[in-house]
Amino acid sequence: MTTPSAPQSKQKITLISPYGGELVDLLIPTEERPHLKAYASQLPSLQLSERAICDLELLATGAFSPLDRFMGQEDFQRLLDEMRLANGYVFPMPITLPVSPSDDIRLGQEIALRDQKNNLLALMTIEEVYEWHLNETAQKVFGTTDLRHPLVAEMHRWGPLNISGRLRVLQLPLRYDFKPLRLTPAQTRARLAATGHQNVVAFQTRNPLHRVHEELTKRAVEGVDGTLLLHPVVGMTKPGDVDHYTRVRTYKALAQRYYDPDRIVLALLPLAMRMGGPREAVWHMLIRRNHGANHLIVGRDHAGPGKDSQGNPFYGPYDAQELAESFSDELGVKVIPFKMLVYLPEEDRYEEVTKISDDQKTASISGTQVREEYLNNGKKLPDWFTRPEVADILADSYPPRHKQGFCVWFTGLSGSGKSTTAEVLTTLLLEYGRQVTQLDGDVVRTHLSRGLGFSKEDRDINIRRIGFVAAEIVRHGGVAVCAAVSPYRATRNDVRNTVGSDNYVEVFVDTPLEVCEERDVKGMYAKARRGEIKGFTGIDDPYEPPRNPELVLDTVNISPETNAHKIIEILKQQGFLLSES
Ligand code: ADX
Repeated sequence: MTTPSAPQSKQKITLISPYGGELVDLLIPTEERPHLKAYASQLPSLQLSERAICDLELLATGAFSPLDRFMGQEDFQRLLDEMRLANGYVFPMPITLPVSPSDDIRLGQEIALRDQKNNLLALMTIEEVYEWHLNETAQKVFGTTDLRHPLVAEMHRWGPLNISGRLRVLQLPLRYDFKPLRLTPAQTRARLAATGHQNVVAFQTRNPLHRVHEELTKRAVEGVDGTLLLHPVVGMTKPGDVDHYTRVRTYKALAQRYYDPDRIVLALLPLAMRMGGPREAVWHMLIRRNHGANHLIVGRDHAGPGKDSQGNPFYGPYDAQELAESFSDELGVKVIPFKMLVYLPEEDRYEEVTKISDDQKTASISGTQVREEYLNNGKKLPDWFTRPEVADILADSYPPRHKQGFCVWFTGLSGSGKSTTAEVLTTLLLEYGRQVTQLDGDVVRTHLSRGLGFSKEDRDINIRRIGFVAAEIVRHGGVAVCAAVSPYRATRNDVRNTVGSDNYVEVFVDTPLEVCEERDVKGMYAKARRGEIKGFTGIDDPYEPPRNPELVLDTVNISPETNAHKIIEILKQQGFLLSES
């Protein structure tokens, strides 16, 4: 059950004008909110994931109309099999609220839905609790169970039960960035109507806008004499995408300088994408129709999730166009298809690949190349590829390697020589003009980790704290030189992921136990041997050596100074230090 007035089976919605059509609105009137808030404080709470928060927002504002709740079982099952809700309306993507049995959910109960910081967002009456099946859902919605599909991987972390029921939304998720551009479907329709053009072409994107996208959008708008709804996704996109703060700055710059102001509306869409290719394209049509568009650009590999574990693309490059076309009439949104657009350097223009001859020279720069070849090396992106304003914004957000932060993580037994080498390395890095923070395990235990002992748990906490601080330093462009025994492989790998593998250099100080014990700088080995301290690494607790460290050091035959210079060489090779310095 979704909308009470929804027609039975396969009836079609016809849109009279691109701005028309009823929208679901789940927001409770302001005057009723205070007493509902007081009531909510007595109810059990459910904390929503980032994805569920995005979904709730779009349900609340009617972007998913006619859907007005997280899906019940009948809607869910028919959607899997037929891409329709139980009442027959087209709906291609599951919008569900998965929970775990431990969440203590009871049928008939009312619960408070809260964001990650416990702010109250909505009340939900639990009218249904039902099981959903991962493989069936993955196969039917995404056509695969391959874990390389980002949504399939994520679904493994979802609870096995879905809940559904009436929603009363008290407050939209709190968002403070780019507020003037965050338009609800109703606000977007009003803006579009004010432009005075009947045709509205929506452009969906999760990437910075380059010349190729400018070309697609301008051609499409001219083709139908309409207005462009530049509608980038700012909820969740594909992991690893350029962050939305950077992207939105590019959209603003372009919208202001390169488009006819009477024919463009820039609005941000807090959608949590599923990277579902063809089904996602149909979903994008429905969402854009609700925002007042009657055309959607669908180019090459729309909402594509990349490649599967065999290295093959999950969907054909034009599968999304095909499926979208088949629902076009029913949804009242025409598809504006584009074959892959490429640049012709000899003619200084863009063209679809299908319209050029085999011997014509073409140029293109992939997303990976933008990062690795251009931004990492401080090389400016060419004008044919992107507008200079966009090149500058990207260069600001993604500085070259020699201005990026990095972490050098020393691991090895107590007394192996980590701190000594770290000390020399630090002074050399200062000579290169880098800002360095040393995080030495023993020193950290005197402040940040004061009071922690040497149990496995306490040691892990200590390492994770160092990792957390290191990640912050690196994120801000600094250098973190960390020296801690860090005996457990899994914890070290977690730290690597927290910092970001590309900016992490693991140095294994591989000094044999006998040598460390002989040095016994702090007299700890003697104590451990006498049984005065328990769980000492190397004596009665394991040290798990790294499997693929960036560097292994020998401290028996080689001096700390020479070892430090070896690390400097690696950092140069990785681009973190300029050779000529
Ligand atoms: S998407 O996940 O939102 O589809 P992206 O932001 O890269 O990713 O693409 C937005 C839209 O532009 C999609 O419809 C896509 O197919 C289209 N598109 C992007 N680049 C090209 C290109 N070179 N040729 C044709 N279409 C393209």
